[in-house]
Amino acid sequence: MISLLRKPKGTYDLFNEPLKEFKALKSHLETLLERYGYQEIKTPIFEQSEVFHREGELSDMVQKETYNFKDKGDRSLTLRPEGTAGVIRAYIENKMYTNALVKLYYFGPYFRYERPQKGRFRQFYQVGMEAIGEKSPLLDAEIISLSYQIINSLGLKDVTIYLNSLGDRKAQMNYKDTLKAYFTPYKDELCGDCQRRITENPLRILDCKIDQNKKFVKNAPISRAFLNAEDLKYYHHLKEYLTAMNVSFKEDDKLVRGLDYYTQTVFEIKADIEGFGAHNVLGGGGHYENLVSDLGGPQRSGTGVAFGIERLLEALKLAEISLAKEEIIDVYLIQMTEKAALKALEVITSLRKENFTVYFDYYQRSFRAQLKEALTLKARYLIIIGEDELANNYFTLKNTKTEKQEKVTLEKMIRTIRKDDNTQK
Ligand code: HAM
Repeated sequence: MISLLRKPKGTYDLFNEPLKEFKALKSHLETLLERYGYQEIKTPIFEQSEVFHREGELSDMVQKETYNFKDKGDRSLTLRPEGTAGVIRAYIENKMYTNALVKLYYFGPYFRYERPQKGRFRQFYQVGMEAIGEKSPLLDAEIISLSYQIINSLGLKDVTIYLNSLGDRKAQMNYKDTLKAYFTPYKDELCGDCQRRITENPLRILDCKIDQNKKFVKNAPISRAFLNAEDLKYYHHLKEYLTAMNVSFKEDDKLVRGLDYYTQTVFEIKADIEGFGAHNVLGGGGHYENLVSDLGGPQRSGTGVAFGIERLLEALKLAEISLAKEEIIDVYLIQMTEKAALKALEVITSLRKENFTVYFDYYQRSFRAQLKEALTLKARYLIIIGEDELANNYFTLKNTKTEKQEKVTLEKMIRTIRKDDNTQK
């Protein structure tokens, strides 16, 4: 016999109330983003591996956490660990760069082979948005203020936007070299991962959960000291724009992000909500001036952000905010005799054709049991079909709120429910 099959580690099944909240959040975000002029894009869940495994992308996420496989045609494919690279691939392939500015959003599952923990999964959902065009701090301001609007529109409090600038690639190389030299004497005091990071990716030592609070890490040189004059001005303008747009933010010298395609601006949105746990980054993003050209496109710059849907849902839950509307059940049909089944099916079919939500008991339990369920479901109307109704060709219709009960034909029943429907909804 086959042993009990379980879902893969780091994944989850979604149904009932949590699924209702998930769908309500998705619809809330889509409505908001479309109002802000973002067009949805759906890209494949797997891409050619080179879309993510690019030269210079040394991040742990891409190097260690991607699901890579070969298909039967011996092609190397990767399950998308994040949305930006696939969207930019599509932007180039579909020649969207002929427009001066393209604003795209996406929603879907992403895959990372990470150690599962609270708030960290191997399959998780993101909503992301990218504004792609000319290099300008205005693009960054647009995306950061949108992130701020998202948080506000959800009613979340105790959330902070942290901002930093990493400069261009040259500044980042200089910064990395400086950090390498700075951390080398402290090698023995660093965790195993960070010992390796000294040569491979010293920036990530700054936001390592284990090491970040050590005094020598806190005192490490900061990225903004390496910015060229142009990028310093860019950063200065961005802060001015955000202030003009009333977007509050804090500067964080040690913010570096987990992907290597960022240049200049980086930012993260963190929840400081009690009970949230260690993975409190709700979303993050930044500017990328080389990604389009690195993927074979023209010289274009983009800025984007992505939010983790599970983390937004957790934040909403802790703040006791529910976005899901209570489902309205129009009718519960009670059948009191076996012979009523055919009639009941006829009525149900007619009512559903009229777009009413109808529940009924397939097992013909006792009247009491059916009534109890109808009241629990808060059905607006009861329809009762018993011996008398069958013999005399009518239905009993009862309004559960007013308790008014009447004998009706099918047509009258539909009219009554609809009339009340229009006044209620
Ligand atoms: P990221 O910071 O890697 O950025 O992911 C964005 C958000 O996805 C995180 O802040 C977090 O809320 C959520 N997230 C990431 N990994 C997991 C996980 N294993 N389990 C649950 N939630 C997770 C990006 O993905 C960039 N593509 C964002 C971006 C868009 N940058 C520019 N454009």
